[in-house]
Amino acid sequence: MGARTNQKPARYFHGILDSIQHTPIPPGNTPFVEFTALSPEGSRLFGKLEWYNPTGSIKDRAAWNMFENARRDGDLRPGTPLIEATSGNTGIGLARLATVNGYEMTICLPKNSTAERKQLLRAYGAKLVEVDGGPNDAIERARNMVADGLGFMCYQYGNPGNPESHEFGTALEIIRDWPDEAPPNGVFCAYGTGGTITGVSRGLVKAYPDIAIHSVEEFTSDPISGMRSQDDPFQPPVADLSLVTHRHEVTKADSIAAVSTLIEVEGHFVGTSSGAIVHAAVEHLKANGGTAIAVLPDAGWKYLSGAPWA
Ligand SMILES: Cc1ncc(COP(=O)(O)O)c(C=O)c1O
Repeated sequence: MGARTNQKPARYFHGILDSIQHTPIPPGNTPFVEFTALSPEGSRLFGKLEWYNPTGSIKDRAAWNMFENARRDGDLRPGTPLIEATSGNTGIGLARLATVNGYEMTICLPKNSTAERKQLLRAYGAKLVEVDGGPNDAIERARNMVADGLGFMCYQYGNPGNPESHEFGTALEIIRDWPDEAPPNGVFCAYGTGGTITGVSRGLVKAYPDIAIHSVEEFTSDPISGMRSQDDPFQPPVADLSLVTHRHEVTKADSIAAVSTLIEVEGHFVGTSSGAIVHAAVEHLKANGGTAIAVLPDAGWKYLSGAPWA
C-alpha cells in the first residue's frame, strides 16, 4: 500500500489535488475517543469516529486506496469510466476522487437507498443506475456493465486494497492512539464487504495477539444499511473472517435505540450500522467488563429521511 504510515498527518495542503495525491494520509487520522458516559460500569469503550473522513464515512479509506492502486498498476487509465456497486458510502468516496481527477463515475445501487445518498452521489458528480432488489442485485448489474466493456470497476467486494486500507490505516491509528499499557480486550466492527473487519483484525492481532474480534452483523430478514450477515448466500471474496472470535446479530430496532442513546449520553449522531456496533459492544461489556474499541462507520445525516427521523 502507498505511503501510509502511522505518523501524524501533514496539516497543510496545496489545494484539494495535493491533499488527495501527494500527502501521505488523505483519509484517516479520525478521532479516537473514550465514551466515558456510555461505558458500562467497570468497563471502558472507545470509539473510532470514522465520519470525520473527507466524505463522511470509513469507506473513504478503501475508496482512496483502491483508486490509487488502480492508477498505479495501470488498471485505471486516464479516460476510462469507473463503475462501482455500493450501498452508498464507497460510491461517495470514489465519486469525489473520480470527479477531481477527471474520470466519469457510474454507481449501481439499490433503488431503495436513502434520498440523501443519491443526492450526495449526484452532488459529487456520479451517474446513478438504480437497481430493483438489494446490494447483491447492484453487484450483478455492475459486473454486467463491466463485462459489456463499459468501464473499470474497483470491485470493493473482491479488492485487496479494501482491507489493506484498514490493516495499514485504521488499525495502525488505533494502536498509535490506544492509551493504556494493557492491550484492549476487544474490537467491534460491522461486517459489510468485510473490508473493515478483515483489515482491522489483521492489523490489531500483530500488536495484540489475544484481542477478541467481534463481527457485528444484520439479520438477513432485517437489513441495516451497509451491513451483511454471514448467513447471506453471497459472502464477499475479500472478507477473511478467520480471526473473528465473536459474532453478534443485531436488529434494526436495537441499532436505532443505540443511536438515540449515543446522542443522549455522548452527543454523537451516528448511522444505523454504528448503532448496531454500539449496541453489541455495550451488551458485551455489561456482561463481561473489560476494554473495547468500536469502529463507527458513519454519522446519521444520510439516514434522516428514514425511520424514525423522517
Ligand atoms: C454505513 C456502513 N456501515 C458499515 C459498512 C461495512 O463496512 P465494510 O464494507 O468495511 O465491511 C459499510 C460499508 O459500506 C457502510 O457503508
